[in-house]
Amino acid sequence: MNVISIREMTKEDMEKILQNAAEIASGKRKPDLRGKILATLFFEPSTRTKLSFQSAAQRCGMNVLDFLTEQSSLKKGETFTDTIKTISGYADVLAIRHPKEGSVRFASDVTNKPVVNGGDGGNQHPTQTLIDLFTIKQLKKKIDGLNVYLVGDLKHARTMRSLLYALCMFGAKVTVVAPKGLEMERSYVEEIEAKFNTKVAKTNEMDIKDADVLYICRIQSERFEDPLEAKRVTEKFRLTKESLIGSKEELAILHPLPKINEIDAEIDRMPQAKYFEQAHNGIPVRMAVLEYVLKR
Ligand code: NCD
Repeated sequence: MNVISIREMTKEDMEKILQNAAEIASGKRKPDLRGKILATLFFEPSTRTKLSFQSAAQRCGMNVLDFLTEQSSLKKGETFTDTIKTISGYADVLAIRHPKEGSVRFASDVTNKPVVNGGDGGNQHPTQTLIDLFTIKQLKKKIDGLNVYLVGDLKHARTMRSLLYALCMFGAKVTVVAPKGLEMERSYVEEIEAKFNTKVAKTNEMDIKDADVLYICRIQSERFEDPLEAKRVTEKFRLTKESLIGSKEELAILHPLPKINEIDAEIDRMPQAKYFEQAHNGIPVRMAVLEYVLKR
């Protein structure tokens, strides 16, 4: 069983993973995956996804192989395909991150081992979405009917693309807020609206008064063609204490992290800021994901 795109997961499977993650988080049970090996292959920088996958695996009794691109035979010119085929013989599950959209699916075509997508370019980041859903459920006890605002570089952020799909599937009322020029691809949003018979509100203004959840991400500067343009938007785009005036008292602010410039440091100290809690939820959720892909 692979986890490549949130669009291929059933609601039932997602609910099962979230339920298992809740039991793991509460200490009720722990997946027993002793004797299994996780290989992490990250062709793009990562702090949370890679380390929480490794930590989750170890907490399930697994061992971990960390493929380091800079010290590998990729440097001698070996191909991605040969790399995946080789490591497939050394591990039982592969967690892969790659800058190119579609490359993790490609990897899953050349191995018979389960593959988990740790982010492919600006396309998908399904396990982050499971963490986001888990966090929202823990904080709000539901997803259905919540007003969720997705704010930031929606053109390039894979976290947002995956999350929008899942939120609509779970019945949230979503508003997408992007700086001009960084809106999410229209055809993608329309496909989701049609599939789940819903309407996603779209704006360029930060008016979040009725938000129950505000989910913000950084400007994805590495995916811009023009670095100066990325710098210009990054400097302008910022959530401040003032932007929260008039917002709901029990608003939850989430962020997949890393945050650069887009959240005022003061907000970190406010009770609404839940993003470090969210990052820590990566452990039970990824433990449940490893169990899901290995036990089926
Ligand atoms: C995100 C990613 O890599 O897409 N980080 C993460 O996995 N928590 C978000 C980002 O880099 O902006």
